[in-house]
Amino acid sequence: MHQTGQQRYDRIGAGYALRRRPDPRLTAAIWARLGEPDGLLNVGAGAGSYEPRDRAVVAVEPALSMVRQRPAGAAPVVRARAEALPFGDGAFGTALAVLTIHHWSDWRAGLREMARVSRRRVVLFTWDPEGESSWLGDYFSQVIEDDRRRFPSVGAIAEVLGEIEVVPVLIPHDCTDGFMGAYWRRPAAYLDPSVRGAISSLAPGAADGCLAKLAEDLGSGAWVQEHGRVLERDEIDLGYRLIAASVPSKPLTACGSRIRSG
Ligand SMILES: C[S@@+](CC[C@H](N)C(=O)[O-])C[C@H]1O[C@@H](n2cnc3c(N)ncnc32)[C@H](O)[C@@H]1O
Repeated sequence: MHQTGQQRYDRIGAGYALRRRPDPRLTAAIWARLGEPDGLLNVGAGAGSYEPRDRAVVAVEPALSMVRQRPAGAAPVVRARAEALPFGDGAFGTALAVLTIHHWSDWRAGLREMARVSRRRVVLFTWDPEGESSWLGDYFSQVIEDDRRRFPSVGAIAEVLGEIEVVPVLIPHDCTDGFMGAYWRRPAAYLDPSVRGAISSLAPGAADGCLAKLAEDLGSGAWVQEHGRVLERDEIDLGYRLIAASVPSKPLTACGSRIRSG
């Protein structure tokens, strides 16, 4: 049965805040792109990760299980969906969306709404389905394949937002925000149900076969033999990207200069 992103999080969201703590290095990268400290809208805000403290913030989050995990003192939250934001045109300086657009039933409509309610810029932290997946692609091939279908490409995002700046975000080996790629140097973590419980792509049943193979290869030493080189790295490019667009959007040009690498 097809589930909306909200329904998925109402089901899997409990315990999210424990495993999905904002990572300080990602925080710095995101905050550096937010621009002027005027009002910020955080769409698909979840438990409130990456909400800046130097400006007024309003959060939008449809899933009650996530709203309940927002800490005391967190920004006010409105239960709504990205596709129909209950705010006037230009109500915020910046609209931010972190690791959420792949859950929206209509991500194009959601991005158009973000651009409508912001005066200056739209900032996204997302995963580029054309990016690398390292060893995760070998073990979680079906999961990654499904993610490649769910996450919009950088080019498709530019078709909605106009000219965009795209900044690769390297994932540190000890990333505290436990999303799909976070444990690339801690492979045994994926065997922990509480780790998987905070990763929507690894919902129960989605990766059972892959997990058995991973457990076997970690136990036998086959994983280290094949992928041990990654243990020497401190950070890695797994396709996570910060994307920033100005509002009003600059139109795409015909000669492919619409996507600037930051
Ligand atoms: C992976 S969580 C990310 C939460 C938060 N941005 C963070 O970085 O921790 C994805 C969030 O998107 C929310 N979501 C799902 N569908 C949505 C929609 N249509 N509009 C806005 N948010 C949605 C989910 O409820 C969930 O809280």
